[in-house]
Amino acid sequence: MDKFIIRGGAVLDGTVQVSGSKNSSLPILAATLLTREPCVIRRVPDLSDTNYMTQILAQLGAAVERASGTVEIRAEKVKHVAPYELVRKMRASICVLGPLFGRLGKCTISVPGGCVIGDRPIDIHLRGLQELGATIETKAGDMHIKRGRARSGNAAHGGREINMRGKHGPTVLGTGNLMMAAVLTKGTTVIEGAAAEPEVEDLADFLAKMGARIEGAGSRRIIIQGVKELHGAEHTVIPDRIEAGTFLVAGALAGRKVTLKKANHHHLAAVISKLRESGFEIDATAREITVHGRPSWKGGTITTEPYPGFPTDMQAQFCALYALAEGVSAVTEMIFPERFMHLPELKRMGASVTREGATAIITGVPSLSAAPVMASDLRASAALVLAALRAEGSTEINRVYHIDRGYEHIDEKLTQLGAAIERVQV
Ligand code: EPU
Repeated sequence: MDKFIIRGGAVLDGTVQVSGSKNSSLPILAATLLTREPCVIRRVPDLSDTNYMTQILAQLGAAVERASGTVEIRAEKVKHVAPYELVRKMRASICVLGPLFGRLGKCTISVPGGCVIGDRPIDIHLRGLQELGATIETKAGDMHIKRGRARSGNAAHGGREINMRGKHGPTVLGTGNLMMAAVLTKGTTVIEGAAAEPEVEDLADFLAKMGARIEGAGSRRIIIQGVKELHGAEHTVIPDRIEAGTFLVAGALAGRKVTLKKANHHHLAAVISKLRESGFEIDATAREITVHGRPSWKGGTITTEPYPGFPTDMQAQFCALYALAEGVSAVTEMIFPERFMHLPELKRMGASVTREGATAIITGVPSLSAAPVMASDLRASAALVLAALRAEGSTEINRVYHIDRGYEHIDEKLTQLGAAIERVQV
């Protein structure tokens, strides 16, 4: 189990390249199960989560070859049982559900267990599949899902309409699962209350390259005409907007001038707007974003929302930024109201934070001090790395495997920018 030792105070300066999106890669890799023909996916980040996904595909019978960022998959024959030992390691393995159901009309997969960022039910995924005609039986921790007769739907909009709205807003992987199930289901499926995240649009783009007929991805209403079969395709995943956002905060907190290459600023509008409100100068061009650091900055108010609102996956990183800001900030988490594992660790470093339900009230302090801290989940860990970059002394961050799930070579990239960060094998 590795740990990071970060000596605070180094000034970040320079350029770093954004990796391909983790949260696009996972469903897109799963979507290759929809065809027996070969698929090539490029710019897949080298992360433990993408490795789990390729292992799951291999276990399901696909031939998988991976060379740096390019993954070639040929799922000539596919088994319908997703192995528990791998599935339990990653919640996102739920995204094989849609493709297995779409291609084989059946799927057995374990019910996902608890998650550190809060209760993460899959009721909406299942409701969507039921509307597509699935029957679901749960036995000994496994869900056995089989295709029955799909509703033909109402003639007014020419298809079956499936409402995916949940009490915390739309579901990203649920929308992906339903799209992947519906592309090979006869007739027209209309998904209402769909997630509009760029990762959903990226998946739809890949499915369209495979021959799927999808309209409206990136909006709240997606219309899918089922086709008989899909063919192989090549695709390059979009830049990781959360990795990019995290490096923008690093540049803001501890940088002089940090430029992100191969980034898409359109996907980061809410994050960039909050950084500007704090006083940071940001230049954005078609493929690059530059943030200029400053000695002091203002706090702010954030409420996480579905895209295009402020992303929950950037909430922890902004808590680190606001810990050192002028004034009092308020950060409200509306997607996963318990996603505040980073707060007690930030407090160990001297942050002044209180919690009122789903809101963190952060009173900025002039400096943070190094302390041994524990990474708890991916984005909480990123927040600790950010705080450590600016803390006085050397911060030891344990359990960095959480960070390795979602940030490709983060220690190397930060070193390239001038950070004093060391990975130590314990
Ligand atoms: N929800 C339900 N029922 C469902 C599905 C979701 O009530 O059947 C609720 C969730 O509990 C949550 C809200 O709906 O309150 C939204 O969850 P969503 O389903 O959108 O989350 P997800 O698709 O499982 C993806 C990302 C997460 C990201 C969320 C929200 C991947 C692999 N994961 O999860 O990313 O936080 O969308 O944007 O795409 C991360 O990268 O650190 C991460 C956790």
